[in-house]
Amino acid sequence: MRIAVFPGSFDPLTKGHEEIVRKAVPLFDKIYVAIGENANKKYCFPIEKRLQWIRQAFADESKVEVVVYEGLTIDFCRKVGARFILRGLRNSMDFQYEKDIAEANRHLAPEVETIFLLSSPELAHVSSSLVRELYHHQGNYSEYVSFELK
Ligand code: PNS
Repeated sequence: MRIAVFPGSFDPLTKGHEEIVRKAVPLFDKIYVAIGENANKKYCFPIEKRLQWIRQAFADESKVEVVVYEGLTIDFCRKVGARFILRGLRNSMDFQYEKDIAEANRHLAPEVETIFLLSSPELAHVSSSLVRELYHHQGNYSEYVSFELK
């Protein structure tokens, strides 16, 4: 079984995240969309909502399971037998940042490979922080999120 973990805060899930998962579906037998919960981090949206929205977004994808985890991503990968971590790249800044994390994870767990998929140019400017900004100022975020934030 080719099992991948797609970790993130998903505060909230964006169309950019959705695109990466859908592109990855043919590549893996199972994909865990894994919400990494850090007790010291402040999130905009409660975990129950983030979970509900992601489950709703991938209700049609039988290979996708949505879960919450605490601690290291590689520990979660080992727990579920995943040999791949999936991350999306929008630009070179993402690459610089993600490369260091992937290297750190490789040192911690050499058996787990990080796989990067590129965002489409139309979605390369989309981020959860952009969506949060629009949400806070009652802006129109519908172009970036496939559900209503309520
Ligand atoms: O969507 P984000 O905010 O980029 O996701 C962050 C997440 C959850 C992927 C990251 O914070 C994470 O991996 N947390 C678990 C701790 C960990 O494994 N860190 C990397 C190795 S030090």
